[in-house]
Amino acid sequence: PATGAFSGQQVVITAGPTREPIDPVRYLSNHSSGKMGYALARQAQRLGAQVTLITGPTQLTAPNGVKVVAVESAMEMLEAVEQEVNTAGIFIACAAVADYRLAQVESQKIKKGDENMQLQLVRNPDILATIASREQPPLCVGFAAETQNLASYAEDKLTRKKLALIAANDVSDRRIGFNSDENAMTLFWHNTQGELQQLPLERASKDQIAAAILHQLTALPEWKKRD
Ligand code: PMT
Repeated sequence: PATGAFSGQQVVITAGPTREPIDPVRYLSNHSSGKMGYALARQAQRLGAQVTLITGPTQLTAPNGVKVVAVESAMEMLEAVEQEVNTAGIFIACAAVADYRLAQVESQKIKKGDENMQLQLVRNPDILATIASREQPPLCVGFAAETQNLASYAEDKLTRKKLALIAANDVSDRRIGFNSDENAMTLFWHNTQGELQQLPLERASKDQIAAAILHQLTALPEWKKRD
C-alpha cells in the first residue's frame, strides 16, 4: 500500500512467544522468535500507523517510534492488550500464545525425586477471541500456525473468532514460519456476500509478507466501511 495508507490509524500488534512459569527457574514456551510480529510493526509504522507492539520475550529490537509493552505470560499479554486496544482501530494477533499455563506456579525451585512427575495445566484465555467478541471490536487479524489441514482450520478460526482476515502459515515447513527469516502463507477473508476468499503469498521475507497482509487489510470490505 502507499505510504500514508495507515496514517491516523492506531494498530496494536502482539508478537513473539509467551512464557508460562513452572517455578522460579523454569517455564513452558515455544519457538516463536517475534520476527513476523516485529515485521508487521515496522511495516505498519512505515505506512503511517501509530503502533503499539505487545511482545513476549525476544532477541529483537523494536523499530524507533513504536510503543513497546514487554510481557512474559499469556495472562500478562491479555492484560496489556486489554489496556492498549481500547483506542485502536486494528488488532493484529501474531504472538504464539501458550494455550495452557501451570495450574499452580511453585514459589520455590522444584526438587527432583526418583519418580516421574506430572504437571497440571489449565487453559489460557484466547486473547484474540476475547478482543474480537467485544461489542465494538477493532478490525481483528489473526494468524493460524498449523501443521496440517491449513485451509479448513484457518476458515474455522476466521468464522469462529469473528476475524476480518486470517493469515495461515504451514509451520511444518522449516524454511518458513517459526524463527526463519522468510514466511509464506495463505490469507483468508469473507467478501460482502459472505463467500470465502483466499490469496496465497509466495515465500518472501517477513517484511514483504507483512506488507502484503497490510495491503490486503486495506482492500477488505470492513476497511472501506470504516471511512
Ligand atoms: O515469531 P516468528 O518466529 O517470526 O514466527 C511467526 C509465527 C509462526 C509465530 C506467526 O507467523 C504465527 O503463525 N503466529 C500465530 C501462532 C499461533 O499461536 O497460532 P494459533 O493457531 O495457535 O493461534 C491462532 C490465533 O489466535 C493467533 O492469531 C494467536 O495469536 C491467537 N491466540 C491464540 C491463543 C491464545 N491464547 N490467544 C491468542 O490470541
